[in-house]
Amino acid sequence: MAGQVARETWGSKAGFLLAAAGSAIGLGNIWRFPTVVGESGGAAFVLMYLIAVLAIGMPVMFAELLIGWQSRSNPVKAFQQLCPSSFWRFVGLLAVTASLIILSYYSVIASWTLAYIPQTYLGALSNAGNQGSNAERFENFTSNISYVISVYTIFIAITMMIVMGGIREGIERWGKVLMPLLFIILLMLVIRAVTLPGASRGLEFYLRPDFSKVTAETVLNAVSQAFFSLSLGMGIMITYGSYLSKDADLASSTFWVCMMDTLIAVCAGLVIFPALFTIPDLQPAEGPKLIFLVLPTVFSSIPAGSIFGTGFFALLTIAALTSSISLMEVVVTYLVEQWSWSRNKSVLACGFATLLLGLPSAMSAGALPFFTDLPIVGCSFLDLMDTIFGKFCLILVAMAVCIFVGWKWSIAAALQGVQVNRAHHLVIACWSVAIRFVCPVAMVVILLSLLFWR
Ligand code: PHE
Repeated sequence: MAGQVARETWGSKAGFLLAAAGSAIGLGNIWRFPTVVGESGGAAFVLMYLIAVLAIGMPVMFAELLIGWQSRSNPVKAFQQLCPSSFWRFVGLLAVTASLIILSYYSVIASWTLAYIPQTYLGALSNAGNQGSNAERFENFTSNISYVISVYTIFIAITMMIVMGGIREGIERWGKVLMPLLFIILLMLVIRAVTLPGASRGLEFYLRPDFSKVTAETVLNAVSQAFFSLSLGMGIMITYGSYLSKDADLASSTFWVCMMDTLIAVCAGLVIFPALFTIPDLQPAEGPKLIFLVLPTVFSSIPAGSIFGTGFFALLTIAALTSSISLMEVVVTYLVEQWSWSRNKSVLACGFATLLLGLPSAMSAGALPFFTDLPIVGCSFLDLMDTIFGKFCLILVAMAVCIFVGWKWSIAAALQGVQVNRAHHLVIACWSVAIRFVCPVAMVVILLSLLFWR
C-alpha cells in the first residue's frame, strides 16, 4: 500500500511541537477561553482549567499520541492494527468523519475572520463605529452568498496548499513560520491592550479569583473547554503522533503542547478584556458576537484601533489555519493509507468534500433562512454540526480512546519502547490511573450532562 512504502517523519522536535501546538491553539483559545474565564470566576476558573488540563487533557493527549506512535498509522488502521478484527476501527472512522465535518464548519468561521482583516482596517478608518452598525455590517457580509463562498473557498485553498506539501515540507515548514508569527502578533497586542486607558479594570474583571462563581456547571465547562482546546477526540494527535520517530519523547511533548495552548489562551484574555473595558457599560459577550460585533466597536474607538483590529483578525486567522491543516491532515492520511490514493488526489478530494459539506454552514448566518434557523432543532446548521461533532462526537471518541488504552490494549503494551527514566515513573503511574479511571468517568459525566442537562 502507498502508506507503507515511505512514511514521513517530523524533521525535528520543535517542528512537531509547533505543529501540534498549532492544532491546539485556535479559535477556542482566543475567543472562547477568555469569555468563559471572565464569566466563571476569573483566576478561580483558570485554576480549575489547569487541573482539568493536567488530570484529563494531558492523559488523553498522551494516549492518543501513543496510539499513533506505536501503530505508525492513520486512526482507522491504528485501531485495526492494535486490535485486529474488532469493532474498534469504527472509533477511528468516527474520528476521521468528525474531523472532516468539523473542518467544514470551522473553515466557515475562519473565513469570516479572514474577511475581517481588510474589513476592519477599512471599516475602522471610515466610521466611528457602534455596535449596531457593526451588527449590520456583519449581517450584510454573512448574507452575501457569493462573497462568503469566495472567502471560504480561499481559506480552504490555502489549507489545501499547505497540506499538499506533506508533513515536513507542508505542515512543519508552515508551522515554523505561522506559529512564531502568531506569538509575535499576540505579544504586540498584549502590550497594546494592557497599556490602554482603563486596562486595569478589564484585567481585574478577567483575573480576580471569585470562588463564589464556581459551580458544578463551571467545572464541567472547564473540562469540556480543555478538551476542545487541546484538539482531542478527533484523531489529530493519533495522526500527528504517527509521524513521530521512534526516539521521540512523547511525555515531554505532551506537556509542552498543553502548556503552550494554555498560555496562549490566558494571554488572549489579556488582549480582550482591557480592550473591552475601554468602553463603559459594554457587556462582554461570547463567541461570534464578541468577535464580530463587540470587538470591532472597541477597535474603532481606541487609538490606532484599525491596526490593533487588523492584527487581531490576522492572529485569529493564523490560529484557525494551523488548526484547519491538522483537521485536513487526519482525513488525508486516512485516504492515502486506507484508499491508497496519492497525497495530491487525497487533498483535492478532501478539499472538495469540505467545500460542499461546508456550504450549508456558510449559508447559515443569514444567507439562507432555512439553514439559519433549522426546523425542529431550532438552531443554525453550523450550531447543529458543532453540537453533534464538535462536542458530542469528540467526547465519545476520547472516551473510547481511554477505554481502549486503559482496558483493552493494556497500559503495558501502550508503553512498550517508551523511554521512561526514573523521574517519569510517578508520572506514568498517575497517567495510568487517570486513563483507566479519572478520564472515562469524567467523560461519561460530560456526555450525560450534554444529553440531559442543557
Ligand atoms: N483546538 C482548537 C481551538 O482551540 C479547535 C480545534 C478543534 C481545532 C478541533 C482542530 C480540531 O480552537
